[in-house]
Amino acid sequence: MEFLKLLEFKDFFDKKIKNFFENLELGNHLKNPLFYYIANGGKRLRPWIIYNFGQLASANKKNLMDIAIAIEILHSSSLIHDDLPALDNAKLRRGGLANHLKFGEYKAILAGDYGFTLPLQIISNLDNINEGNKLLLMNYFIKTILKLFEGEMEDLIFEKEDRDVSEKEILGMYSKKTGAVFGFCFASPFLINGEVQLAKEMNIIGTDFGVSFQIFDDIKDVFTTEEDIGKETNKDVNKKTLLNFYNYKETQIIADNIYRSVLQKLEELNLKELSIILKEVRKTIETS
Ligand code: IPE
Ligand code: IPE
Ligand code: MG
Ligand code: MG
Ligand code: MG
Repeated sequence: MEFLKLLEFKDFFDKKIKNFFENLELGNHLKNPLFYYIANGGKRLRPWIIYNFGQLASANKKNLMDIAIAIEILHSSSLIHDDLPALDNAKLRRGGLANHLKFGEYKAILAGDYGFTLPLQIISNLDNINEGNKLLLMNYFIKTILKLFEGEMEDLIFEKEDRDVSEKEILGMYSKKTGAVFGFCFASPFLINGEVQLAKEMNIIGTDFGVSFQIFDDIKDVFTTEEDIGKETNKDVNKKTLLNFYNYKETQIIADNIYRSVLQKLEELNLKELSIILKEVRKTIETS
């Protein structure tokens, strides 16, 4: 089995998603803002997980690539909306101007709307897949998007509400805003061929991975520079994060423990290869 390293995959995937946009019949007023973040880079971690986990699940490669493209469009759209003035009010993303600053707010909002719906069309157009499995996948994808919205809402409510938010509430919010999409990335490769039980277990593990990923992201906001991560830092001063409870070292230990338990659970499921793939990620999270 050949697994692609993250950087190799990025080149390969970037060509595919560019090609997808070139062939997409859509006016430039929507297409340009929707493609803008995608063209500006990003780690492509979610597509990479889908594609490599799919190799192990012996899933059809075209289906894997379509799902990977769908999830990256969803992810990018969540960033377009996340950056809006009414939400995180970010000025910089992936080293360039935030979407609404480049194209104006109404275009950013509508491109985000389009990008939340387009992935559903991609999934519903999958072929070479059993119809029952496709329906499961579709249902699961819809649940993922709804969770993401719930998590984003909690994040903002927690920020604006004048009350103490518990550690448990924060972890719950992370598991929705970031964990849900990673849960889908871990599980969907197994759903393609109808491995429902394994997909359920992978969903739980992937959601935990997303929680540790979000904790690292929060750490980066405080302890890295704009040049390092291509987005503004010290933006989360009013956000409720684990750093309200713990110092840097303690927070990193919590994230690492979750990450290690993810690797261990994969090995317990006899998916040691997946844990090897995922070990590549820890460094990436730290350095980008
Ligand atoms: C940023 O995700 C948003 C979070 C969920 C923390 P990434 O760190 O994967 O962003 P890109 O795709 O590499 O830009
Ligand atoms: C965003 O979390 C997660 C999403 C679902 C978009 P953040 O607000 O921390 O992500 P960044 O730091 O802006 O990338
Ligand atoms: Mg946010
Ligand atoms: Mg943000
Ligand atoms: Mg952040």
